Amino acid sequence: MLTPTLILALLVTTSVAQNDPLAAIAQALNANGLTAFAGLLPTLNQSAVGQRLFRTLLAGGKLSMFVPNNQALSQVPQDVANNADLLSNIVSYHVLQGNFTDPSRTVTSQNLPNVTIGRTLLNDSSFVQLEGNRSQVLVWGKESNGTVRILNQPNNTTVQNVTIFNDLGIYSIDQVLTPPPSFSQALVAGNTASPGLSTDAALALLNNTSIPGPDGNNVSFTNYLDGPTVKGFTFFIPNNAALQAAQPALASLQGNASAVRVLLGNHIINGSTLYSTTLTNSTSASGETLTFFTNSSGTYVSSGNLSTARITATNVLTKNGVVHVIEQVLVNTQENPAAASSAYNQATSTAPQTAAETGPVSSPTSTSAGNNSNTGSTNGASSTFKNALYSVVVIVGNIVGAAFIM
Ligand SMILES: *[C@@H]1O[C@H](CO)[C@@H](O)[C@H](O)[C@H]1NC(C)=O
Ligand SMILES: *[C@@H]1O[C@H](CO)[C@@H](O)[C@H](O)[C@H]1NC(C)=O
Ligand SMILES: *[C@@H]1O[C@H](CO)[C@@H](O)[C@H](O)[C@H]1NC(C)=O
Ligand SMILES: *[C@@H]1O[C@H](CO)[C@@H](O)[C@H](O)[C@H]1NC(C)=O
Ligand SMILES: *[C@@H]1O[C@H](CO)[C@@H](O)[C@H](O)[C@H]1NC(C)=O
Ligand SMILES: *[C@@H]1O[C@H](CO)[C@@H](O)[C@H](O)[C@H]1NC(C)=O
Ligand SMILES: *[C@@H]1O[C@H](CO)[C@@H](O)[C@H](O)[C@H]1NC(C)=O
Ligand SMILES: *[C@@H]1O[C@H](CO)[C@@H](O)[C@H](O)[C@H]1NC(C)=O
Ligand SMILES: *[C@@H]1O[C@H](CO)[C@@H](O)[C@H](O)[C@H]1NC(C)=O
Ligand SMILES: *[C@@H]1O[C@H](CO)[C@@H](O)[C@H](O)[C@H]1NC(C)=O
Ligand SMILES: *[C@@H]1O[C@H](CO)[C@@H](O)[C@H](O)[C@H]1NC(C)=O
Ligand SMILES: *[C@@H]1O[C@H](CO)[C@@H](O)[C@H](O)[C@H]1NC(C)=O
Repeated sequence: MLTPTLILALLVTTSVAQNDPLAAIAQALNANGLTAFAGLLPTLNQSAVGQRLFRTLLAGGKLSMFVPNNQALSQVPQDVANNADLLSNIVSYHVLQGNFTDPSRTVTSQNLPNVTIGRTLLNDSSFVQLEGNRSQVLVWGKESNGTVRILNQPNNTTVQNVTIFNDLGIYSIDQVLTPPPSFSQALVAGNTASPGLSTDAALALLNNTSIPGPDGNNVSFTNYLDGPTVKGFTFFIPNNAALQAAQPALASLQGNASAVRVLLGNHIINGSTLYSTTLTNSTSASGETLTFFTNSSGTYVSSGNLSTARITATNVLTKNGVVHVIEQVLVNTQENPAAASSAYNQATSTAPQTAAETGPVSSPTSTSAGNNSNTGSTNGASSTFKNALYSVVVIVGNIVGAAFIM
């Protein structure tokens, strides 16, 4: 998509700005019509987060950048545009670790409903709380007509064109990207970033189920997942129809709060954020096994070989984890606190060792050509984001460090 004019502009830019790579990037942006974004650089330079972002860009690793066009940036309120810290964090969410420019000069992407997931540079703890202080991710896919669409966004967001400047892939987009909100905000009915999930009934159940919070006082399961202690989780949340269908089983648990917590804990992996591209057999927060399989009708999750559910929507991103929607309740009230605890400890101790991602986020077993292969999301297109869940509660005055508090 390089026009002769643009090539000329880039050549001129390169020779003019050889000693100042950042100025060269700004000129390349300007030459490509991305003048509003280029105009933000001095503001970013006023914040430590922005300065770190510049250092990362200048260090010359493999990076790619989604750049909102002028029309998109004109929608940004002045108070945000003038807030160097906030702006720098938002811009960090637009920069991807890795080279996502494919040989045909488009953005590397799976065809929807499959998706590509990239790790961004956004890691400020006020915006993201993943295991091992990992940065937040972006999810996107390619429509049948070739349009690349970024998912989990409140406004439809597509890639307009691709430019490569030195090693940096610059992908212009038609909206400013919004980092994932909290778990409850992501799931709340009416969130345009995650339409049609139909999970209100599960949210009501979570709102109405209390568990011991980090200080030992009871909090609602929802507030727990929204809270500051939860770092990394994967929640298989049943949709409304699933809860409706499970009424007989749930009714038998009425008055048995502990059994309800165990059942909910069997829908959650604590301390590990597993996307559709990284689903792997795991231990739930209640200590039961969660296994996955894919066949012609979709990808399924099973709890302790007792109960199986089809996954209907994937990759609903949240500030501190990820949610996948399932169409059956995993009816399993068995628990194994020792297994839960051990899995959580393992998750938290291995997470920090993970090096920066340099390509799509995918299972170690499925990384071959740097492309994620994936465990088939059945509904990547409507995947959204939300916030997360937490697990290890060490009850003060108690030696019990349960992986989930039952
Ligand atoms: C890329 O998109 C920007 C913003 O929409 C536009 O100004 C520019 O001319 C486009 N560049 C090319 C090479 O099409
Ligand atoms: C950032 O500020 C420093 C001085 O504080 C200056 O040397 C540098 O050119 C600025 N960079 C940009 C992109 O504004
Ligand atoms: C990124 O990938 C494209 C296409 O495969 C390639 O042309 C380009 O050199 C790569 N850039 C880097 C920095 O590896
Ligand atoms: C974010 O990542 C940078 C390195 O890329 C690191 O220096 C910084 O400490 C990280 N911040 C947090 C809050 O983890
Ligand atoms: C995450 O960041 C916090 C605050 O910067 C730091 O105390 C903690 O050690 C970091 N954890 C990991 C696993 O890097
Ligand atoms: C591709 O399809 C989407 C709808 O799925 C539409 O919004 C978009 O304009 C189409 N793009 C092109 C280039 O035809
Ligand atoms: C979505 O688009 C509308 C209309 O263009 C705009 O007012 C709003 O700020 C956008 N929302 C976000 C989160 O960018
Ligand atoms: C986003 O685009 C999709 C596909 O073109 C469409 O179905 C949906 O209604 C659009 N959403 C919004 C909020 O415009
Ligand atoms: C559950 O609680 C959250 C926040 O605590 C709230 O936003 C949401 O509306 C509640 N949902 C239901 C269905 O009660
Ligand atoms: C909330 O919990 C109380 C007590 O456990 C129960 O009586 C009530 O029916 C529940 N409400 C909802 C909406 O689940
Ligand atoms: C996951 O568990 C299933 C069911 O037990 C098993 O068939 C499969 O081989 C396991 N996958 C891996 C990668 O261990
Ligand atoms: C992508 O999705 C399709 C249909 O959902 C599936 O058949 C195919 O195997 C998936 N491809 C990859 C690479 O996962």
